[in-house]
Amino acid sequence: MRVYRRVKVWSVLLRLYHWAFALSIITLFLTGYYIHNPFALGPWEGTPTNFLMAEVRFVHFVAGYVFIAALLVRIYLLFFGNQYERFTDFIIFRPRNLVRLFHTVRAYLYLGEHESYGGHNPLAGTVYLCVLVLSVFMALSGLFMLYPEGGLWASWGVTLFGTQQIARLFHYLLFWVYLIFVMIHVYLVVWNDIFGSEGIISGIFSGRKFLRT
Ligand code: HEM
Ligand code: HEM
Repeated sequence: MRVYRRVKVWSVLLRLYHWAFALSIITLFLTGYYIHNPFALGPWEGTPTNFLMAEVRFVHFVAGYVFIAALLVRIYLLFFGNQYERFTDFIIFRPRNLVRLFHTVRAYLYLGEHESYGGHNPLAGTVYLCVLVLSVFMALSGLFMLYPEGGLWASWGVTLFGTQQIARLFHYLLFWVYLIFVMIHVYLVVWNDIFGSEGIISGIFSGRKFLRT
């Protein structure tokens, strides 16, 4: 018989960050897509839209600030979070994590047993780290578009992107990267919840997972 213990893995701060990040991104998807392609022209096509675009842009910027706040919280936790939240727990440059990466890929190919690690498996962890790096660029391109003449953002923006148009293209292309990430992410957490024994989905709400003793 297998024996499990319930272990506290995710702090309140990490869980708050996850859900603020996820909800802000869903809002940014919907409003961002509308800014890109204003498919609804108001109650009757061709008639004035009662400033619908202005309102959608406002919601996009508010969600953008929630996204930036969540991102800052996660960057803090990468260095000062608990043992499972720090970047050293899941980056693939540690020998221990390379072995775990191998086991994870084997399990995904249905060639080996599903192992439980407490924190992220290194494959997921590395992807999450890449998403955080992309998020910094998403925030910078957004702020550059929002404050084209604001001293700080304008000078950073010109150094990073050159022109507003390039920042906009970059921002738009990353929108698709996020969409693909979210679809694969939700598929994989459900997969892990079914085939693994840690209860990872309830874990991102309660903060606790089940680990084999
Ligand atoms: C995952 C996060 C985000 C997604 C998916 C997203 C998505 C988008 C999309 C699809 C557009 C339309 C681009 C186009 O015109 O073709 C857009 C525009 C824009 N976004 Fe974001 N965005 C995100 C984060 C942010 C953040 C953090 C800010 C800054 C507060 C921001 C500010 C802007 C601005 C200023 C525009 C241009 C609005 C305009 O041209 O009227 N975005 N966003
Ligand atoms: C826009 C939607 C979402 C985004 C952008 C997102 C993003 C993320 C990110 C970046 C992480 C890594 C957390 C960290 O930094 O340590 C994560 C973890 C996680 N997410 Fe999401 N998420 C989304 C939706 C969801 C949904 C709908 C679920 C539940 C079905 C979910 C379940 C989880 C779980 C269980 C983990 C922890 C995985 C583990 O234990 O290794 N996410 N998510």
